[in-house]
Amino acid sequence: MIQFDKNTDSSDQTILLAKSLSSKFKPGGIYGFIGDLASGKTTFIKGLLSGLDFIGMVNSPTFTLINEYDAKHKVIHIDCYREKNISRWIQLGLYDYFNPNNIVLIEWPEIIESILPKNVQYIKFENIDTDKRRIRSL
Ligand SMILES: Nc1ncnc2c1ncn2[C@@H]1O[C@H](COP(=O)(O)OP(=O)(O)OP(=O)(O)O)[C@@H](O)[C@H]1O
Ligand SMILES: [Mg+2]
Repeated sequence: MIQFDKNTDSSDQTILLAKSLSSKFKPGGIYGFIGDLASGKTTFIKGLLSGLDFIGMVNSPTFTLINEYDAKHKVIHIDCYREKNISRWIQLGLYDYFNPNNIVLIEWPEIIESILPKNVQYIKFENIDTDKRRIRSL
């Protein structure tokens, strides 16, 4: 279980927060990132990948839907926002990504909640002000 509740005042702070928490994200874990548009989910995931020793570009999988990274562990970054058809996710092999080798990070997990396992750990992002975000484990 990851437990934290923090405010950040810039995207750099969000990246640093994610870096500091990155060792708590474990292979076999499935993590859901809940929060409004531009609340910092992808920014946080960039920080996580940096903390997991990935060097290189991290882009939002808004259009690709799924990005894979060879970091310290294999990291799978999924964004459900643009694909709300559940059977499409199953066709894409969603379940194959849930295995003990992968850290699976899912933005907009509520869209596919009905097909997610019960053990997903959720992280919530809230827009408090222009640059202020509240980020916490649920
Ligand atoms: N404290 C903060 N933490 C994170 N991002 C911030 C913060 N303050 C401002 N920002 C800005 O908010 C935006 C966050 O974008 P990001 O892509 O991380 O959001 P997201 O939650 O992934 O959105 P989406 O739902 O569209 O995928 C960026 O433009 C970033 O510069
Ligand atoms: Mg995003």
